Amino acid sequence: MHDTGRGQSDTEAVRRLGIQYPIVQGPFGGGLSTARLAATVSNLGGLGSFGAHNLAPEDIGRVAKDVRALTSRPFALNLWVSDHDPGGLSLGAEEFERVWALFEPYFRELGVEKPERPQDFHHDFATQVEALLEARPPVFSFVFGVPPAAILAECRRRGIVTVGAATTIAEAQALDAAGVDLIVATGFEAGGHRPSFLARAEDSLMGTFALTQLVSRRVKAPVIAAGGIADARGIRAALTLGAQAAQLGTAFLACEESGTTPEHRAVLFSEEAQHTTLTRAFSGRLARGVRNRWSEAMAPRAAQLPPFPIQGWFLSKLRPAAVRAGRTDLVSLWSGQIAPNLRHRTAPELMESLVRELADAPGSSQR
Ligand SMILES: Cc1cc2nc3c(=O)[nH]c(=O)nc-3n(C[C@H](O)[C@H](O)[C@H](O)COP(=O)(O)O)c2cc1C
Repeated sequence: MHDTGRGQSDTEAVRRLGIQYPIVQGPFGGGLSTARLAATVSNLGGLGSFGAHNLAPEDIGRVAKDVRALTSRPFALNLWVSDHDPGGLSLGAEEFERVWALFEPYFRELGVEKPERPQDFHHDFATQVEALLEARPPVFSFVFGVPPAAILAECRRRGIVTVGAATTIAEAQALDAAGVDLIVATGFEAGGHRPSFLARAEDSLMGTFALTQLVSRRVKAPVIAAGGIADARGIRAALTLGAQAAQLGTAFLACEESGTTPEHRAVLFSEEAQHTTLTRAFSGRLARGVRNRWSEAMAPRAAQLPPFPIQGWFLSKLRPAAVRAGRTDLVSLWSGQIAPNLRHRTAPELMESLVRELADAPGSSQR
């Protein structure tokens, strides 16, 4: 591979994904993806993605339609293979009251009523993936596991390219052995959830630099590096370390086309973004965001928090009131470690700068 111009961008990953540049806009779950962001990135030669794990199966087809209305280029729909942790499927009445006691002061502070105990806390992967297959996106990316062999076979039959995420060598090898088409090596710098599925997330904290090198030498599938990459220099570094594309999350989340709030975006561009933490306080699974009152208040109570997705369900009841009030202390402020280096506020600006600087000679991008 050459180090300049198109040469380094012309990779097997780019060919498999049917895109122009080795740039993937990482999917965002929890309602933070938009069809507009995904389509904008795809139209500009990258792979736009839409995180659909929080959607009901009947909404997945609609999202695919929305993206297709805005682009004829390849895009990805993304799901979470594992949809609950042990104990996360239901909550008995007594346990519900115990957990409610943790949340009650914050609900009271925001004037939010106690929610009814629900029957289900999260949509089921099996029915979501049926809807996804029906929608037939060009790319199906997923985290938190390896889909059943029958699903992967059906993707192949329908011409859907599959992309799975690994946080360790063993996870990458499991995805490779299952015949997944491309593997995202997700370093612990990344914003959002740590998508580990073989060992505890706390025991799978490898950085992008090491993970990319280790994984790319051990799997057949092309590797996409994710975590801590926000400019062309980072992409070039990932390609040098054995990746064939880079997935950027936080840099796209900060763009006005994403589904997050203006308050969250402002935090990403502030000094606060220098202080991220990995915490289970927002969803019940380990995820990286900017430290705030909620992450700090829950830190000493980590052992009392209910599992995923129950913790996240409680917070989702608090979120609308917090967002309406413009509060940043009681909502998730997902962010990767690279946020202090963000420069662009729209997806076209970000994409254009990535593409331009990728084409420049190495070393000529910003310091
Ligand atoms: C708010 C947020 C939500 C995310 N949700 C998902 C998701 O649902 N599925 C997924 O595969 N990755 C998800 N990610 C990971 C990103 O797609 C991407 O891999 C990661 O952000 C890259 O690291 P960076 O933030 O350092 O750029 C999310 C990231 C963020 C910041």
